[in-house]
Amino acid sequence: MEVKTSLLDNMIGVGDMVLLEPLNENSFIENLRKRFDHNEIYTYIGSVVISMNPYRSLPIFTPEKVEEYRNRNFYELSPHIYALADEAYRSLRDQDKDQCILITGESGAGKTEASKLVMSYVAAVCGKGQEVNKVKEQLLQSNPVLEAFGNAKTVRNDNSSRFGKYMDIEFDFKGDPLGGVISNYLLEKSRVCKQPRGERNFHIFYQLLSGASNDTLTKLKLDRDFSKYNYLSLDSATVNGLDDAASFRTVWNAMQIVGFMEDEVQSVLELVAAVLKLGNIEFKPESRVNGFDESRVKDKNDLKEMCELLGIEQSVLERAFSYRTVEAKMEKVSTTLNVAQAYYARDALAKNLYSRLFSWLVTRINESIKAQAKTRHKVMGVLDIYGFEIFEDNSFEQFIINYCNEKLQQIFIELTLREEQEEYIREGIEWTNIEYFNNAIICDLIENNQNGILAMLDEECLRPGTVTDDTFLDKLNTICAEHQHFESRLSKNSKFLTDHSLPHSCFRIQHYAGKVLYRVEGFVDKNNDLLYRDLSQAMYKATHSLMKQLFPEGNPAKVNLKRPPTAGFQFKASVGGLMRNLQTKNPNYIRCIKPNDKKAAHIFTESLVCHQVRYLGLMENVRVRRAGYAFRQSYESSLERYKMLCKQTWPHWRGAARDGVEVLLTDCSVPAEEFAYGRSKIFIRNPRTLFTLEERRRACLEDLATLIQKIYRGWRCRTQFLLLKKSQVVVAAWYRRYAQQKKYQKIKSATLVMQSFIRGWKARKILRQLKYEKRCKEAVTTIAAYWHGTQVRREYRKFFRANAGKKIYNFTIQRIMQKYFLGLKTTMPSMSPIDNTWPARPYMFLEGAHSELRRIFHFWRCKKYQGQFTEEKKAVYEEKLEASEIFKDKKALYPSSVSQPFKGDYLEIQKNPKYQKLNSAVEDKVLLADVVNKINRANGKGAPRLFLLTKNNFVLADQKTGQVKASVPLPDLTSVSVSTQSDGFFALKLKEGSASAAKGDFLLSSEHLIELITKLHRTGATAADRDQINIDISDEFLVQFNQDKVCVKFIQGGPKNGNSAACKRKNNRLLEVSVPSSP
Ligand SMILES: Nc1ncnc2c1ncn2[C@@H]1O[C@H](COP(=O)(O)OP(=O)(O)O)[C@@H](O)[C@H]1O
Ligand SMILES: [Mg+2]
Repeated sequence: MEVKTSLLDNMIGVGDMVLLEPLNENSFIENLRKRFDHNEIYTYIGSVVISMNPYRSLPIFTPEKVEEYRNRNFYELSPHIYALADEAYRSLRDQDKDQCILITGESGAGKTEASKLVMSYVAAVCGKGQEVNKVKEQLLQSNPVLEAFGNAKTVRNDNSSRFGKYMDIEFDFKGDPLGGVISNYLLEKSRVCKQPRGERNFHIFYQLLSGASNDTLTKLKLDRDFSKYNYLSLDSATVNGLDDAASFRTVWNAMQIVGFMEDEVQSVLELVAAVLKLGNIEFKPESRVNGFDESRVKDKNDLKEMCELLGIEQSVLERAFSYRTVEAKMEKVSTTLNVAQAYYARDALAKNLYSRLFSWLVTRINESIKAQAKTRHKVMGVLDIYGFEIFEDNSFEQFIINYCNEKLQQIFIELTLREEQEEYIREGIEWTNIEYFNNAIICDLIENNQNGILAMLDEECLRPGTVTDDTFLDKLNTICAEHQHFESRLSKNSKFLTDHSLPHSCFRIQHYAGKVLYRVEGFVDKNNDLLYRDLSQAMYKATHSLMKQLFPEGNPAKVNLKRPPTAGFQFKASVGGLMRNLQTKNPNYIRCIKPNDKKAAHIFTESLVCHQVRYLGLMENVRVRRAGYAFRQSYESSLERYKMLCKQTWPHWRGAARDGVEVLLTDCSVPAEEFAYGRSKIFIRNPRTLFTLEERRRACLEDLATLIQKIYRGWRCRTQFLLLKKSQVVVAAWYRRYAQQKKYQKIKSATLVMQSFIRGWKARKILRQLKYEKRCKEAVTTIAAYWHGTQVRREYRKFFRANAGKKIYNFTIQRIMQKYFLGLKTTMPSMSPIDNTWPARPYMFLEGAHSELRRIFHFWRCKKYQGQFTEEKKAVYEEKLEASEIFKDKKALYPSSVSQPFKGDYLEIQKNPKYQKLNSAVEDKVLLADVVNKINRANGKGAPRLFLLTKNNFVLADQKTGQVKASVPLPDLTSVSVSTQSDGFFALKLKEGSASAAKGDFLLSSEHLIELITKLHRTGATAADRDQINIDISDEFLVQFNQDKVCVKFIQGGPKNGNSAACKRKNNRLLEVSVPSSP
């Protein structure tokens, strides 16, 4: 069970000043002191939080505290800044209202700390997740970076923000942070060159020198010793409780987390180093002839190092410190700078460089933290702007800062005091007016466009002629003299003439927070904020890319002769923008109060607190709160919100909203004095009434939720049930069908069995009957047949013998044929085609069939035989066949050649190296190569010759050398003559008149005559374009030798002649060849 707590529990003093009794300034301060002494640094005025700076760490910012305040009502727990942050965050998330958190108070009152607490609280309670955490981390880590560069130790605050900061944190509809945008306002850049006593320059300078590694410092050409740098004041270089070295590492890490690249960090540090170097550049006068002083750089070492660091040409920068070029229209005039002007230029450069670097950092951080999604954002703005400042010496900066604070006070008044009172009047609520001081008049003194101080300062800066701070003061003295809040010794207002607290070079403004004396010295310069063009151009020429980026106006291509807007003008414009922005958001106030001037814990300086309470208008704030109503809301929205509390208004109210609210409040029995009816809104006096309503609403919502749950559950169960029921019916139907089917099939098969039995029985019965009848019929038929048979046989006996003869004949013939064919199978002759045997026919009448079978068998056998032949074998046989056609029964030599195979190439001239030459002389394939004898006509003796036959010609060559003796184309050969006997002589007769015939015919003898002639004949026959070669076979023929014809005659010789034929010359016209008679 949750324990209900309240603001009123364990209250020290009163937690909410609205409850203070009696209400006066003393009791107010007393209450603050009492709470402060008990470590209660927060107190409410309604929804405004007053925060006292404890100057020590208190255990009230732990994660447990965050959890405690999370999602709790504002007045439920004791006052805390977390309660305000939670309220703002929840109304942003749940009611879609953009929020802004305005933190005001003077310097050192704890504004920056408060803004960090708010941000860390929001970061802790909003959504989680990898992406969201990264965004949160970047948003939080932007703080250390900006503080290092924008904060400094002042007499009032060791970590004083020297710039104004407004940060918009953007959320999506779930309340998860998406990113943020930071705006910065006017960095106090004069601090870069000069710091008041007891104050320091910006933290980063000290952090860099103490925290950077030796390596980094050498790279930046820096020395760890602070005293080496003119721009660093020494009297408070180290601050108690600040560890610069550790802070440097924190800043370094933060820059990485925010998303700075390694080289970007390096560039930034280089520029910081450049500022330090710049401060060390000093000038000395050098007189010129015409009497003008001209400045020269005293020691060029620092200048050189700085130029090296930034990649600037030394001579360019040196010149920029000695001369100033003024461009007017088309003219350029160069004037020399004296020492004072050179120092002025140097400082202006340093200040500009640093402040631009700072603005660049803000832009760069914004780039990293900007929201990615383009959807509509909800925005929570946190404003932490420099507090009201009163120093011993107040200058332009304080003037600007205090102006900004005036504007914030104005917006506070606008939104809380005036707006509230005006609303009561507008709504027609009875109301007694509360007096409060409206500082609009002071704002007007400063910002009025015609005669405001800023307008006059601008006017003075732009006026031609000599302009000094004094002429500006004179102008103020004449124009503002009558203003109630302006005081000056020399003004026309004589009442200050004798005021010795007012020096002559000063003016005083009565701010809402007190009187501030401003020294006019430097106002004009600071407002002008001039940087000589030569310097910006020199910076633009740097090779250092960030440096170049910071001085875009130095680009010679973009010379702009117009004066840049003044600092005052710019500030006024940006503050105006900020105010307009804040007015669109729902404000949440944190008013910071400083308990003492010593930055010490436990000290409560009453006068100081009292002063702040007065000028912050806190008393008026309480009074307005007390007199008024804590809560208001339009009738429509409040009816919508609470309609469930009353039966008449739930769920819908049909009448006017106001009547509905009346009915509702009466029904809820809220006492009449607790609320008032306005024209469009209901006003609730006490927050507790509101809480009661809220509480009842919550309970009611729980009931409603239960109701919705109940109905939903009922509906779900019913649907489920109906579904189940439907399914059950389907299942049952299918099951029944199945069961019936089964049953039916069983009955059916039983019926079939029975039927088949019965049918079988019946059929068997019929069968038996039929069989019996059939047997009876058969018996009758058999008897009839026998009887008929006897009758017929008796009648036809006389015809029987005549038929038997033919039948016996046929039968006998069939048997004989059968025996013949089966017998043939065993007596078949062999498969040789030349086998002439054939079995004898057994019977004369089979003659025809027998010889036909023999013929068929022979053909079949030949075909088989032929099938075994290869191509070559076939060619050989064809040759043999041709030889037989030519010579069979014509020449006695033939029979002996039949058994010799035709070999063709007897010499193997291809393989024989001796005949290589011959082989190459013969073009075609050699069909026959043999040794023949050429018969000499003179003596009939033979001389060996090589005889080669190819497709186209025959060749005669020397046997030993292989030299070609004669080559005769075959077409020139007309005929060949041979004898009828068993000799090897032959004559080759050539065509008369052909080239080959010149030497006459050839008479040759060969051992392979038959083969040679056959091949010759065959070769002649295969060529289609030639005539056939004639073969003459006779024992006497003529041979043409040169001119003569000689007769060759063959005679049968006796065995005495030996085995071979011999040729003899008988006479000039006869050669006789005697051939041995064959055995
Ligand atoms: N809530 C706090 N708890 C502890 N110390 C605080 C708190 N608020 C402020 N301080 C102390 O006061 C100093 C000044 O606060 P700061 O927020 O910088 O003031 P401002 O921004 O108003 O000038 C801080 O450095 C810190 O030491
Ligand atoms: Mg601050």
